[in-house]
Amino acid sequence: MFSTALPTRKRRRPEVAFNQGREEVKFGDVKVYLVERRMGKSRRNFLSNLARSKGFCVDDALSGNVTHVVSEGNAAQELWNWLEEQGFGEMQDKHVLNVSWFTESMSAGRPVPVELRHYIQNPAADQRSCAHPSAKPESAVSPYACQRRTTMDNHNKIFTDALEVLAENMEFSGNQGPCLAFRRAASVLKSLPAALQCLEEMHRLPCLGEHSKAIVEDIFECGSSSRVEEILNDEKYRTMKLFSSVFGVGPKTAESWYYRGLRTFEQVLTEPSIRLNRMQTAGFLFYEDISKPVSRTEASALKIIVEEAVICVNPHATVNVAGGFRRGKEFGHDVDFIIKTPEPGQEDAILPAVIERFKSQNILLYSDFQESTFDLKQMPTHQFEAMDHFSKCFLIVKLKREQESRERETDTGASRDWKAVRVDLLAPPVERYAYALLGWTGSTLFERDLRRFARLERGKLLDNHVLYDKATKTFLPASTEEDIFAHLGLEFIEPWQRNA
Ligand code: CTP
Ligand code: MN
Ligand code: MN
Repeated sequence: MFSTALPTRKRRRPEVAFNQGREEVKFGDVKVYLVERRMGKSRRNFLSNLARSKGFCVDDALSGNVTHVVSEGNAAQELWNWLEEQGFGEMQDKHVLNVSWFTESMSAGRPVPVELRHYIQNPAADQRSCAHPSAKPESAVSPYACQRRTTMDNHNKIFTDALEVLAENMEFSGNQGPCLAFRRAASVLKSLPAALQCLEEMHRLPCLGEHSKAIVEDIFECGSSSRVEEILNDEKYRTMKLFSSVFGVGPKTAESWYYRGLRTFEQVLTEPSIRLNRMQTAGFLFYEDISKPVSRTEASALKIIVEEAVICVNPHATVNVAGGFRRGKEFGHDVDFIIKTPEPGQEDAILPAVIERFKSQNILLYSDFQESTFDLKQMPTHQFEAMDHFSKCFLIVKLKREQESRERETDTGASRDWKAVRVDLLAPPVERYAYALLGWTGSTLFERDLRRFARLERGKLLDNHVLYDKATKTFLPASTEEDIFAHLGLEFIEPWQRNA
């Protein structure tokens, strides 16, 4: 890291090192001012030159154009007193930051997004806002999705759709880091209570890197982004999107087909050297149906079917919707159910019996059952993004069509009165239920940030099975989702607020 290489304040260092000529400004919307107080003149010069050499604009004076004030070693109260003496007031488009933001930006070679931890808060403002709540500055958006409330009302869809195309494109080319950066940027915008009003507002948000900001700016100014248009027309992107829309085909398989020159389903299906696995075979067989979204009405009809089957095995077991439908989505790519049994150990018998029943009812089109491999003694695991160990199955079932939708779809539905639908069932041990429900409710990014928050901010390990406290080396018990949020010192976020 750069920060460890920074010279200390006291040590004299030779001048030179940087080209003192006119440096090209790369980040025009960031104007940095370094507070000399406590930092010292020579270190300030050194840091200013360093920043300029990297394309940052550094102002020697605290002018009205300064956007990022950087201070080192000053107590917050002291700093703010001084800033106020200079006539520098609190303003929404100005950041007063710890040197950590600066050093991180230097090592990144670009201004990193400002996060809460970078700010030096004005203590007086805190007192004022307690006395007069109306004087409180606009509350900052958290960089963690699990500290934001994100409903289905997305007021920034034009931006988030574009950022998600970029994320998907990165995912298709195996660039996980940039993919996640675009997803995080989209997620922050999804959480806003209203549409972005101006670009200054965007600069105050966390998790928006330079690339994401550039896309938002384009759309703000031109109504569209040429980069996004380019991707949408790109042959590889289009082919990857098509192939990975098949159940059982991930980005790796899609890419290998693409590089073999295949572009259409017909080419894949007639290519003699391609052997589809069982999942992919079902994926193609039922593509027409399962590529269509499942509606909330269809999800409710399926819940009744699953409940009937579960109750046959264990009359005291209950079925709950998880996944996107629990978050209030109107449509999903599948329906996720989680089954709760009253006694430990009862979970193992449920799914095989449900599958048998669906078979005997002649509604089972595909099933992949995975027996439980859960063992508390092997917890906590450190492979957070891996699948969980609970008893689960991935199914395709026949759902009877409603009369009206049958009439609407005479072209496809004429010969059959059912629609193939993807269903996921999970049966965790009852003492693991809360963790499993939380994990299977999503969204994926919400879960990811919950785990990241637990690890980085609380020293705890969270996954679909347990919450583990590293300091005390203990598992933290939870029988509800609320218990887990409480252990993490987080405000409870309702399922419909987790659409991050
Ligand atoms: N999940 C999981 N482990 C799996 C499969 C899924 O933890 N083996 C979680 C995912 O992280 C997600 C939730 O289960 O949070 C639901 O997954 P999925 O059905 O893929 O996504 P949805 O959010 O339900 O989206 P959609 O409406 O498209 O189905
Ligand atoms: Mn789902
Ligand atoms: Mn699912």
